[in-house]
Amino acid sequence: MLEITKEFRNVLKSAGSVAVLTGAGISAESGVPTFRGEEGLWKKFRAEELASVDGFMSNPELVWEWYMFRRNIINSVSPNPGHYALAEMEKLFDNFTLITQNVDGLHKLSGSENIFELHGNILKNKCFECGKPYTEEIDPESGEHPNCECGGKVRPDVVWFGEMLPEAAINGAFEAASRAELFFSVGTSALVQPAASMPIIAKQGGAYLVEVNLEPTPLTDVADCSFLGKSGEILPQIVEILKSEKVG
Ligand code: OAD
Repeated sequence: MLEITKEFRNVLKSAGSVAVLTGAGISAESGVPTFRGEEGLWKKFRAEELASVDGFMSNPELVWEWYMFRRNIINSVSPNPGHYALAEMEKLFDNFTLITQNVDGLHKLSGSENIFELHGNILKNKCFECGKPYTEEIDPESGEHPNCECGGKVRPDVVWFGEMLPEAAINGAFEAASRAELFFSVGTSALVQPAASMPIIAKQGGAYLVEVNLEPTPLTDVADCSFLGKSGEILPQIVEILKSEKVG
């Protein structure tokens, strides 16, 4: 069983407002590749060609190929115990917000409800010109990519490098971070802004900051409590402790 400090135990018991930031690491145990690290996507692929406005304008076919490749992976995987633990945690607190940088939709699939998707959702599409959601099915085999009714090209509904984050999501996430009494940073390298500043904002606002990651990150020294290991193993144990505290 996971060893936790008395202080963390007390915060778990008393916190009314909880926020969690997740990154690619929480989906790693489901089989979704992370971006950084030895096996990370950005080791093998060039982000500026595949995940940027310039990249899409100069070679939309290549960008679509990359997103179809990732969609195929995501369509073939399922949530893991880390996702399910967060969905369960949501039910145990009065006020719970999940902020994710992931575009895979696995949090929703595992039952989480109050989610801000900071970087969009890879399974959705929108118009490159007018931004309107495009809800028709796209046949991945056809190699053809449709246009919006305004004539603009349809693109995946994700945030590319250099783009603004969806306003409602970013505002909601910052608001949740600043009022959190307990904040978890899970499976993120804590390098990409503005998500990386959310745990810091939470801590500055008085939150107890807990990190769960396979390895130390720039956040580790700032965190009140850091668990080095797999989120799919650590989060379910935190939920078990939480349930026993709520009952006891
Ligand atoms: P990264 O790939 O940068 O970091 C993943 C983190 O997860 C690393 O710190 C790993 O140590 C950790 N990790 C891996 N497996 C884990 C596991 N089983 N349990 C716990 N931790 C684990 O992913 P993000 O931080 O999400 O942006 O990256 C942020 C953004 O950079 C992404 O949203 C994406 C990327 O470029 C856009 O596409 C806009």
